Amino acid sequence: MTKISRNDPCWCGSGKKYKKCHMESDLQNVTHPPASMKPPKGIKIKTPEQIEGIRRSCRLTSEILDMVASQIREGITTDEINTWVHEYTIKHGAKPAPLHYNGYPKSVCTSINNVICHGIPDDTVLKDGDIINVDVTCILEGYYGDASRMFMIGSPSPVARRLVDVSLECMKLGIAEVRPYTDFGRIGHVIEKHAADNGFSVVRDYGGHGIGINFHEEPHVHHYDVGYRGLAMFPGMIFTIEPMINQGKYQTRLLADDWTAVTADGLLSAQWEHTLCVTENGVEILTA
Ligand code: MF3
Ligand code: CO
Ligand code: CO
Repeated sequence: MTKISRNDPCWCGSGKKYKKCHMESDLQNVTHPPASMKPPKGIKIKTPEQIEGIRRSCRLTSEILDMVASQIREGITTDEINTWVHEYTIKHGAKPAPLHYNGYPKSVCTSINNVICHGIPDDTVLKDGDIINVDVTCILEGYYGDASRMFMIGSPSPVARRLVDVSLECMKLGIAEVRPYTDFGRIGHVIEKHAADNGFSVVRDYGGHGIGINFHEEPHVHHYDVGYRGLAMFPGMIFTIEPMINQGKYQTRLLADDWTAVTADGLLSAQWEHTLCVTENGVEILTA
């Protein structure tokens, strides 16, 4: 994978050119002692107190998805899912982050079949064979947790089931790349390979993101192979991995509501999301 040119900024975030920084040691295949690396500028390293707060928010996010999982079925509307999520979130002392976020009108995102992400709950009724992503973000004591899961209604087609399974595998493979002092570029590399091996494509117009103190923080996390190593991961970084995998082509189209992203070719899309924390030894899945 991962070509970085001599004059590109070094992947370690030093701000120096690659050739003036880690190029020589990379060529010699030297492993980098953490002491020689500084966290990239602009990415917040969370304190233990912040991590504990974000952990609690992520735990609630996961419980909200468990609640949705126990009730979702054929015949309900996406507005009903919105009501469940909104009321459960408030009852547990938190706020739904999507509501009024940049003008978003509801408390959760519900993305059915060809909808890639940011589907707005309405009077659409779930029907046999649908696949739907429910994406929940809550704010608990000022801290953000973000996760989404796919649900299958009745008996989706074989290809729909395979897309749901492969997109889950893609997220898990991406998470397996998270540990200190490796590169963000590895995430998209493994995800794109697994999607392509299964004949699917990876959405490029939306990605994962830093999170915790705000909804969307630096860095942007690519789910496709950008062809370079990207920034280095450091303990205390918190971000999401949330690959959107398309049955057909990766191109997207935005509906007139300015939120709903659909596949340009009208084929299916699936997505799973977790919020992750880089630890001293590896990764903690905060929304597990
Ligand atoms: N939860 C989405 C994400 O994973 C963001 C939704 S923004 C909203 O980043 F406004 F549509 F809710
Ligand atoms: Co997210
Ligand atoms: Co989300």
